Amino acid sequence: MSQRSCLSVILAAGEGTRMKSAMPKVLHAIAGLPMVAHVVKAAEAAGASGLALVIGHGAEEMRKAAQKFAPQAETFVQEKRLGTAHAVLAARAAISNGYDDILVMFGDTPLIDAGALAAARQKLAEGAAVAVIGFRPPNPTGYGRLIEEGGRLVAIREEKDCSEEEKTIGFCNAGMMAVAGKHALQLLDKVGNNNAKGEFYLTDIVEIAGAEGLDVVATEASFENALGINNRAELAEAEAIWQARRRREAMLAGVTLIAPETVYFSHDTEIGADTIVEPNVWFGPGVKIASGARIHAFSHIEGATIASNCDVGPFARLRPGADLRQKAKVGNFCEVKQATIEEGAKVNHLTYIGDARVGAGANIGAGTITCNYDGFSKFFTDIGEGAFVGSNSALVAPVTIGKGGYIASGSVITESVPDDALAFGRARQKTLPGKGKELRERFASAAAAKKKAAE
Ligand code: UD1
Ligand code: CA
Repeated sequence: MSQRSCLSVILAAGEGTRMKSAMPKVLHAIAGLPMVAHVVKAAEAAGASGLALVIGHGAEEMRKAAQKFAPQAETFVQEKRLGTAHAVLAARAAISNGYDDILVMFGDTPLIDAGALAAARQKLAEGAAVAVIGFRPPNPTGYGRLIEEGGRLVAIREEKDCSEEEKTIGFCNAGMMAVAGKHALQLLDKVGNNNAKGEFYLTDIVEIAGAEGLDVVATEASFENALGINNRAELAEAEAIWQARRRREAMLAGVTLIAPETVYFSHDTEIGADTIVEPNVWFGPGVKIASGARIHAFSHIEGATIASNCDVGPFARLRPGADLRQKAKVGNFCEVKQATIEEGAKVNHLTYIGDARVGAGANIGAGTITCNYDGFSKFFTDIGEGAFVGSNSALVAPVTIGKGGYIASGSVITESVPDDALAFGRARQKTLPGKGKELRERFASAAAAKKKAAE
């Protein structure tokens, strides 16, 4: 099968009014990735080398988005929504390029898995002209029914066109199918619109192919594969299924999730074995974690790289560009953005490190702030290896603290500090013996005099 070339035609021209959104339906995200991009990934995993995206509603926005998630896709505009067969034909130019297999998929069915698609393609490799992906939903109402005779698929009947008897059939059309490239265009061109909705139904090619003596079959996939998203409740349902799959995959790959149902992955999260993720952790896009790290509860992490044996959180926020090297530690209520925390460095409490490097083994005291922004531009703070920054220091960038530099607590550091220097950036302390008592007595007698005057 791997030798057969394959084009995936992804239908995404529909409006999706039930999402009640200004954004085209298929751009709504699951695990941070537009649902149609999940469909693209599944198509590619099933061996599709060509991608045709049929767009219509919100075409400009769709084209722009596709540049990002599938720059390799060719887009085709379906001007009027006249049905699924009509939509596939919008990609006629791509289909006529002579692919062996054409996989028709829906942009709003994001949980389709590559295995189900590959099974349909396998049927083409074995000689079928059309292989339809079927499933058995708990409630078949609304789906096209698969009408089989002696192991062959003879027709797909849309709900609105079904007889009472046909409505009792539980085996339904998931919507997606594989069609032999050499037959695809001639079958599609024969589809008419003589049905209850007056649409050109893709599903009609089943009967058309049968009438020509071509072999038509159905494969069976699980319900999730066919879950179409029409509103935000279904979007959340798909997200939940996706997350459950991903958590299980992570655990089976050696990641400990103490309370898996509270950990949220992105489509691209990578975590190494023997890393432990405590409850209520959120991974935004672009997170890579090596093995043996511990992510404590309530951490919010995106665009960050975390090396092995790091310790993060609880309540840490790692933003894009956070790069934690081996055994680095970023503790509670710390925020790190666009900064490297080198090997074994510690940023333990209530700290902001942005646009910076913290050298290996350095220790950043509680409440340290890199003042990286003057309202217009961002500046860099470079903290050398083994430096010690006392609590509640403000490091006003651009500034460099040399190797082994020592910053007194409460400093505002505006000038660079050489290697091994000690810097105080605060007023010197003044202590006046006995003055505290004197002051207290003065305040007390003033208060007594005031009280007496009021009597
Ligand atoms: C379709 C199937 C039905 C199946 C169901 C599974 C047909 C005729 N029916 O019905 O058998 O059980 O999916 O969910 O195929 N689209 C376009 N242009 C159009 C029409 C549709 O791009 O002119 C796109 C839609 O945006 C959507 C997909 O095609 O992503 C499916 O269309 P939809 O109208 O939702 O088909 P269903 O009625 O759900
Ligand atoms: Ca649908």
